[in-house]
Amino acid sequence: MRTLFIAFFAITLLNCPQKNYAQESTDKKWWKEAVVYQIYPRSFKDANGDGVGDLQGIISKLDYIKSLGVNVIWLNPIYSSPNDDNGYDVSDYRNIMKEFGTMDDFNALLKGMHQRGIKLVMDLVVNHSSDEHEWFKQSRSSRTSPYRDYYHWWNADKGKPNPRYSLFDVNHDAWRYDSLTNAYYLHYFSRKQPDLNWENPKLRSEIYDMMKYWCEKGIDGFRLDAFQFAAKDTTFPKFPDGYEKNFSLYYAVGPHLHDYLQEMNKEVLSKYDVMSVAEGAGNSYKDAHDMVDADRNELNMAYAFEGVDIPSNPKGYSVIHFKEVFSRWDSVFATKGWLSIFLANHDQARMVSRFGNDSPQFRELSSKMLTTFIMTMRGTPYYYNGDELGMTNIRFDKIEDYRDMSTLNEYKHQQNIGGDMQKFMDGIKYACRDNGRTPLQWDATKNAGFTSGTPWIKVNPNYKTINVAAEEKDQNSCLNYFRKVVALRNQHKVLVYGKYTLLDKKNPNVYAYTREGEGKKMLIVLNFTANTAQTDIGIAIKNSKLLAANYADGAASVNNSSNIVLRPYEALIYELND
Ligand code: NOJ
Repeated sequence: MRTLFIAFFAITLLNCPQKNYAQESTDKKWWKEAVVYQIYPRSFKDANGDGVGDLQGIISKLDYIKSLGVNVIWLNPIYSSPNDDNGYDVSDYRNIMKEFGTMDDFNALLKGMHQRGIKLVMDLVVNHSSDEHEWFKQSRSSRTSPYRDYYHWWNADKGKPNPRYSLFDVNHDAWRYDSLTNAYYLHYFSRKQPDLNWENPKLRSEIYDMMKYWCEKGIDGFRLDAFQFAAKDTTFPKFPDGYEKNFSLYYAVGPHLHDYLQEMNKEVLSKYDVMSVAEGAGNSYKDAHDMVDADRNELNMAYAFEGVDIPSNPKGYSVIHFKEVFSRWDSVFATKGWLSIFLANHDQARMVSRFGNDSPQFRELSSKMLTTFIMTMRGTPYYYNGDELGMTNIRFDKIEDYRDMSTLNEYKHQQNIGGDMQKFMDGIKYACRDNGRTPLQWDATKNAGFTSGTPWIKVNPNYKTINVAAEEKDQNSCLNYFRKVVALRNQHKVLVYGKYTLLDKKNPNVYAYTREGEGKKMLIVLNFTANTAQTDIGIAIKNSKLLAANYADGAASVNNSSNIVLRPYEALIYELND
């Protein structure tokens, strides 16, 4: 599963020619100063007792969200959908999924958010639709349907098309034969997610109209799902043998992608005060810049996956590698373009289980340390719901407990090819998307206060101790620490715009850096390990002010020298005064 997503978003970092960039990254923008809180609506809060989270549930928690200090919510798809891929298969882009509520609920949600000064970013899933979308029903009905060219069809009279890899199909075959018109249709994801044909201007104009419909309602942005795959060579040439191992190179940033993005910007994005974020960052820094540099008029920010794709396993990962990846991306975007910073989302394992340490001894400390990292880096932070509590992976033992379609299909695939099923089960305990999709843990009552019914996916049994109600009462909880560092980021714009400098680069345990600008200099020191660690940052920190520390007693052993000894997973933020 993990490898599947690594392959999906694989980044081949080709050299980007050095340009003489202007200081674009210090230009002030609300979306740079935002702290984005990502809500997976299915698992957030169920108001009507059907076991599935819904819009009324989110409305009932708006004061909680406001109390976090975040100012943008990214909502995973809430459009009508048969839910093959939990809403990433849209059957009507202008309506709300029945399980989530009605358009009235949506209007009330948006109003309630805006009243609280919170903006809304919607998921825009237009590389593909559902096969239950009216366009697809019409498209498959006959070869002469006016909707035929809304999708990619290959008439079987010509023989089989060249192979294409499907990420989610049981057989990984992206061409699905349909006997109705004796033709194959293309689906990069599941067979219920046929790819839309962006070469068709009628399709593009329908999508822009639909985007305007949501902008007119007052939404504040779009997150473009898998959009880099939307542009394709529709002659479907043969790719080299083995291409599927690195298929992103062939799928991402296809012909006309930038034409489409510039057109979308001209037709929609430029007409509203909305933010836009690309899922992924292409195959090179040049790709990433080309999508987001302000003078290109495409999107606002890239969401690069190399950070969450660094090789890891239950035993850990290389801290040096982690530092190198985040420092490199920062330097490439230091003066132009803009990035997102995140360590988790609905496609990933829980942040603390993956990058921290979810043992009882270190869960809280390591979770707070990772939160410190996200909130003090340059780029717009995207923080996944539940991580503010230090929620952990669930690690189901039985395949019957998993819900993620891509995992279930891969399970069947492994069975079909005689794969090592034990290895597969061990792998999904660590990396399956369902780990991040268990219900949000509100309190210690039945089903963690998520639903009065039967939850669509099991609640993590640790909800009795890890939950909002308990953490509200504890001054030193992950939740209250999260509030504290979000407030710091909101208060000190140096944490948004300031120059980033890595310190003690070769230190295998400690990640230390400064952020400098806006007349201030901040020092951030993070021990990424379960052992005591030492760093020589080369800066004496006397006269500095400790702004945040993840241990209740503050900083342990800082003296007037530049040597700092950190306790396990200790995290410190200083304002330097010299
Ligand atoms: C990326 C989304 O984040 C993921 O959840 C989804 O399955 C695929 N795109 C397909 O839409």
